[in-house]
Amino acid sequence: MSSSHPDIALPRLIAHRGLAAHAPENTLAAVRAAHEAGCRWVELDVQLLGDGTPVIWHDATLSRCSDGNGRLAALDLAAARRLDVGSWFGDAFRGERMATLNEMLELLLERNMGVNMELKVTGKRSGTELAEAVVPRLLEALPAERLILSSFDRLALQHARSLADASLLPIGVLTESVPHKWRFRCESLDAFSIHTDWTRLTAHRANEIKAAGYRLLCYTPNDPAAFANRWAWGVDSAISDDPTLFDSIAPPPGEARA
Ligand code: G3P
Ligand code: MG
Repeated sequence: MSSSHPDIALPRLIAHRGLAAHAPENTLAAVRAAHEAGCRWVELDVQLLGDGTPVIWHDATLSRCSDGNGRLAALDLAAARRLDVGSWFGDAFRGERMATLNEMLELLLERNMGVNMELKVTGKRSGTELAEAVVPRLLEALPAERLILSSFDRLALQHARSLADASLLPIGVLTESVPHKWRFRCESLDAFSIHTDWTRLTAHRANEIKAAGYRLLCYTPNDPAAFANRWAWGVDSAISDDPTLFDSIAPPPGEARA
């Protein structure tokens, strides 16, 4: 691993999609809820509307998390704004609007929060185009110490890296399970971290990753007792729908063992 990475003070717990257990995922309300619950970092997904506007959204479609139907890529900003993206979660969130990347960055700055921004490439959409639209805006808004850019999409990360070096843009390699070629993938991207499904991580692979100097993040544990031995494996941070469940269980940052 190169030594030019920023020294990020990652918390043990990162709120997944905002605070997805307590508020409609990937909304401004969810990030406010995360902050009010004491979270310093959130994980969020970003995609482009059909008119090229970057918005905070997970799915390729609208039906699960809004009162609309059809594809996100079919919307322009005016149409996206008409959707209610809160009522599906609960009446208290009625009238919540889809957040643009710009609005979300303003909120993160106002609350002094860090973000793991995931470039979410759905279907046949272009990871390169997404990185091109999102990375300059992230670099302009946030210091490297408060940012990790991740993606499952290799081309998106490659393009992101071509836009900024490791001292400015920490990159997280996102995988469902860590591939045999993990070292090559990390080196070719000058990556800062690996983010993997906690249920598919092995102690052996965790040891290799930590010995090579990379940060290791796991998604999406929501059962602190079941997750407990992963801290001892060297996992740095857990990206959870409900970090508050872990309050008395996660070790302090920097301590490997619970
Ligand atoms: O970034 C970790 C996690 O969010 C990846 O999966 O589907 O929840 O975006 P997903
Ligand atoms: Mg995500």
